[in-house]
Amino acid sequence: MIRTKYIAGNWKMHLTKRRASTLARDIVAAADSSDSAVKVAVFPTFVHLDHVRRNIRNSNVVLGAQNCYGKKEGAFTGEISPYMLRDMGVQVVMLGHSERRHIFGETDKMIFEKVKIALRAKIDVMLCVGETLEERQAGQTFEVLVRQLKVLKAVKPTQSSRITIAYEPVWAIGTGETATPQIAQEAHAECRRLVGKVLGDDAAQHIQILYGGSMKGSNAAELLSQPDVDGGLVGGASLTGDDFSPIINAARALS
Ligand code: PGA
Repeated sequence: MIRTKYIAGNWKMHLTKRRASTLARDIVAAADSSDSAVKVAVFPTFVHLDHVRRNIRNSNVVLGAQNCYGKKEGAFTGEISPYMLRDMGVQVVMLGHSERRHIFGETDKMIFEKVKIALRAKIDVMLCVGETLEERQAGQTFEVLVRQLKVLKAVKPTQSSRITIAYEPVWAIGTGETATPQIAQEAHAECRRLVGKVLGDDAAQHIQILYGGSMKGSNAAELLSQPDVDGGLVGGASLTGDDFSPIINAARALS
């Protein structure tokens, strides 16, 4: 298999310092460092990054941040530079999450700047894309993917192995309404085709495209067995070891 399965937990604005540390330790146990068949990453809040970093030390679990600003440094009160994240031991940053786009008004132009500078700061990028319910109902899903994936123009050819895509239909996020495996596969195949147009066929074959939107233990295997679904970006079901471990195990069983 050319692409390793990749399971990531997006903790959003949840957990306390203590619960974040416990969860991190549970995930290290579930991820099993001796087994590299599945890549596992966690995305805590900024303030929990250091606690989580200590708890995943000496494991293969990857430390991610949920956002960054599109500049190296300066008078940007309340913002965090990817260079600071790098300095804190963060390996990957999530950019363009639908909550950033729809609640905080992030545009593709802003996301383009963030992708560019994060890669320059030597942090990998998980770029999130996906259509709203209105866009899907209007038959605009592929159009939205074309527009959002134009951000990949910020990626230099030598950087393409440091990008992951998360296809997250907005109507499936936190709603309990998961995309059918067929809907996910169709969108993932289109994302892969679009990656190929911008970054070339080789990059398209190697890039991991994760599905996000109400993934849980009971539906993970079916989604992950689709040919272009290389993993999952999990929100609600990533907040306890009991919910998250079955998803890691489903990915392992398919590896
Ligand atoms: P969900 O969130 O699994 O709770 O739907 C996914 C995400 O927003 O990344």
